[in-house]
Order: sequence, then C-alpha cells, then structure tokens
Amino acid sequence: MTKPQGLDNGLTNYGDRDFARYLRRSFAKSMGYTGAALDKPIVGICTSESGFNNCHRHFPEMIEAVTRGVLAAGALPITFPVISLGEVFLSPTSMVYRNLMAMAVEEMIRAQPMDAVVLMGGCDKTVPAMLMGAISADKPAVMVVAGPMMTGRHRGERLGACTDCRRFWGSFRAGKVSADEIDQVEGRLAVTAGTCAVMGTASTMALLAETLGMLLPGSAAIPAVHADRLRNCEETGALAAGMALTGGPRPTEVVVPAAVRNAQRVLLAVSGSTNAVIHLAAVARRIGIKLDLDAFNRLSDETPVLVDLKPVGAGYMEDFHYAGGLEGVLREIAPQLETETVSVTGETLADRLAHPLPDPIDRAVIREATDPISPVGGLIALRGSLAPEGAILKRAAATDALLEHEGRAVVFASLEDLAERIDDPGLDVAADDILVLQNAGPKSPSGMPEAGYLPIPKKLAQAGVKDMVRISDARMSGTAFGTIVLHVSPEAAIGGPLSLVRTGDRIRLSAADKRIDLLVDDATLARRTAERTVPTHQPKRGYTRLYHEHVTSATEGCDFDFLGPEGC
Ligand code: FES
Repeated sequence: MTKPQGLDNGLTNYGDRDFARYLRRSFAKSMGYTGAALDKPIVGICTSESGFNNCHRHFPEMIEAVTRGVLAAGALPITFPVISLGEVFLSPTSMVYRNLMAMAVEEMIRAQPMDAVVLMGGCDKTVPAMLMGAISADKPAVMVVAGPMMTGRHRGERLGACTDCRRFWGSFRAGKVSADEIDQVEGRLAVTAGTCAVMGTASTMALLAETLGMLLPGSAAIPAVHADRLRNCEETGALAAGMALTGGPRPTEVVVPAAVRNAQRVLLAVSGSTNAVIHLAAVARRIGIKLDLDAFNRLSDETPVLVDLKPVGAGYMEDFHYAGGLEGVLREIAPQLETETVSVTGETLADRLAHPLPDPIDRAVIREATDPISPVGGLIALRGSLAPEGAILKRAAATDALLEHEGRAVVFASLEDLAERIDDPGLDVAADDILVLQNAGPKSPSGMPEAGYLPIPKKLAQAGVKDMVRISDARMSGTAFGTIVLHVSPEAAIGGPLSLVRTGDRIRLSAADKRIDLLVDDATLARRTAERTVPTHQPKRGYTRLYHEHVTSATEGCDFDFLGPEGC
C-alpha cells in the first residue's frame, strides 16, 4: 500500500477509512477548497502569532509570503496555530512553558494531515520549542524566524531591546536617570516588530537553528521589517512544497550530532546567550545525545569570539546582518566546523561555504579569526563543590578582574527574600562580596526565571559599583551582562550544595580552572545537610504539576524526562 499523502494522512479513527476520508474532504470543502486543491500535498504552516507576543506581530504578512511560496510550487498551504510564548507576558517565566509549546508543536504536526511543515517562531523560547517538537514529530520541516527589531533613538543615541533596557534601568536605580526620562526611554527601546535587537537568546537561537540546518542559509539575521524577510518566507514556502512532494529531509536527517557541535561552535563565536546552552542541550536530547560540559569547554578554549555586538560589544543585530551575518562567522571558523552536515536545502555545509561571498564582510562587526575580539569562546562551564553537575559563566560578559575572585557570600534564600532585602540600606554587603540567590532553579516555585542578573544593591550602585560576582541556579537574559554564574546544578530546591551556603561563607570563582567552590569544611556541610529542610513545592494539578514532576536539570536542557527518543 502506498503511503497516504496530503489530506489522507492520519485519518480520524471511525473504524472505516473510506468514511473518514469522505467526511474529512466534505468538511474541508466547507472551507471553500476545491477537490483539486485537496488532492495536492499539504504544507502545514505552524504559527506562534499571538496578541501577547509583540515580537511576532508581523507574522500575518510573513504567513502570506510563505503561503505564496507554497502555492507557486504546487502544494496546498494550511496554517495552524500553536501556543505562543511572548517573553515578557508570561508568569512566572516563559521557560516553564517551553516544553508545553514543544509538546503542542510535536502533537499537532503528528496528528494533523500534512506532508511537510513550516515552523514560524522567533521570540526566545519559541524557536527551541519548535525545534524540539519538530524533531520528535520528524515530518519534513523547515523554519522561518521573526528576525530582529530595528533600533530606536534617544537623545542622539541608538537604543535596542534589551541590553539598553537594563542599562537605563541600572542608571535609574542609581539615581542618574530621572523618572521622566525613564518614561521617555520606555517608548523608545522596542520600536518595530521582531525579536530583541541584540545578541540575546532569540538572535542566538535563530543563528543556531540556521547552523543546525533548519533555516534557509543566510536568513537568521534578516531584520524583521526588511523586504528580504518576506522574500525568505516565500522561498521557504517553495522549499517546503518540494519537501512535501519528496518526503524529506526530515529533521533527524538534518539535526545530527555533528550539526549540534557546529551549533556549539557558533554559540561560542558569537558570544551568544547562556540560555542557548540549555536549549541546545534539550534539542540534543531529542536526538538522543547528551551535551558534555567538558567537551563544551574544550570547544570554548579553541573557538574565538568574532562579533562585536551587544550585550558585550557595540553593535546591534541589524549591523550584524549588514556586516555579513552568520555567513561571515561560518567562513572564519570553517576549519573548525564539521562540514558534511546537510541543511533543509539538501546542500552540505561544505557546499554552502564554497559559494563566493555576495558582499565583503564588514570587519568592524565580524572580525577575522586571526584578529578576534577574544581568542577563546564567550561561555564556559564551571564545576566544583558548589556545582558538582555544572554551572555556566558568560566570561565574555564578565569583568576581567572578577574572573578570579574569592569573596564572602551574601545569601538570599528566594526571589522574595532578594526583593525584600537587596536595597535595604542596612544590608551588610560590600563591593567584593559575592551575591548568592537560592531556590530559583527549574523545580523552584519560580520555574528558573531570568533572575540570575541580581541587581547590585542600591547603596553600592549609588557608590558607583557596576559589577559583582553573582551566583544562582536561575537563568539570565541573553541581553544581560556581568560576572554571573548561572544554572548551578543540582539546584537548591532539590537539596544541591547551593542550598547549604550561608551568609559569611567564602566562595572561590576561577574561570581559568573552570571551577566554582564553596570553601566550607565537610563537617559544617554535613551539619547543615542534617538541619536542612528542603522546600516542598508540589503543585497539585494541571500543567504545573506535570512540569514539576518531570522537568530535568539545566544540564539536561530542562526538557521533560519522558520526551527524549523512545521516552528516555
Ligand atoms: Fe521577544 Fe526579546 S521579547 S525576543
């Protein structure tokens, strides 16, 4: 029997296939389709548009362009929604819902009749969620991303979400920016459709998705409002129609272990978001591999940082696009890439890199490998007595003098405790102390928020302190910066060593040794372990219960334990 195609895919189970087919066509015709249209292969267009997602507000126009491409190439486009994750509109944090979106994507691709799918995401968690779901569904799939926002202007300077959001807020807290000016800035930070304008999580994940092979080459960084974005959508629609006709490639043929290693290289070379380490671990887990933090450090020590972009440099994503985009980075690290990987186009990375460059690379934004911003990668993994299973430090965003630092811990037991005391004028804290936040990991009530960028205590900020070592089991926005140790595993909420730290303890950070250690003797730790009461946060119902019972650690990508291949 030939494999069903188009509308005949996955017939509804009535115990009579012919009846199911007849009923489905009848109901489809109620939407005005002709029989001829319904005989074509189907490309599903999976959209994450929502009124609660500012980054995706141009999706109607993009969908129209994808649709045009599918139709012109001879297939039938059918758009369907999945949940959206607008980064700043979700509580407690979008991270909690990434797996819900991944499950929705997977199940709707599998359950509905389509031969190929175009995935439309952009805002931080939507891209990894779509990749994770599409890999597990494993029907032919290709992605388009929202593209970055353009920058705004304020009193002669360029502004882009959200590194400048934090910079202005820090100045406001320090009393250097007035309430009137902060009001003005509020309307000038995010001024167009598209994802945050810097090398934050959304931009990083778009570049990694292209490196993995799931986007058309050269498309990750096209600005959201540029006509090239719409041309990219039309071309993607046409490619998807071809994939629907030929049945491939499938995501598991594209996202292979070598492609994941290439994506790690790019993450390091662009000094991308710390969140991408978690998302890449989750994507890798969907193809049955585990990200090895020691191997990641080896890659980091030999991969140079090449791009000069905020949050750690000067430029914005629109500059990156015009400077040459991902292509410019790939050319520079080509000797370190595994070039036998294949993209959705069927072309190998070696073939892609053999094409002549359309334009010269702007070396002010994308440096040559022989003249890097830094000779080593932007991120490293740490281990040590405080984080036996690992932690992440964005060394490119850190203050050099703090990369080797020993200091006294000032501990906050929760986000609530932090909010209550951080600005207390009576707080016993000095500039060379280390701020520690507990109970902000994946299984905490806060669901691993982007709270790792602990504010500098107001009295120190007003005295001019710009950075301190900060440690937590939380995440940090890809747009933030500072000497910040994140994703400490095991997390405090399940009794990790982080839960044993007390104010006054000594902690040592050594980026050179890739270690983070709690300098407290074993007898004291044993006593504290015996006295400790591990929090008993246990949601009783619904998705939050599912999340709490099944979310894995940051080092495993915070995926659910039952969503790997064959449920592992
Ligand atoms: Fe959507 Fe930053 S809020 S990418």
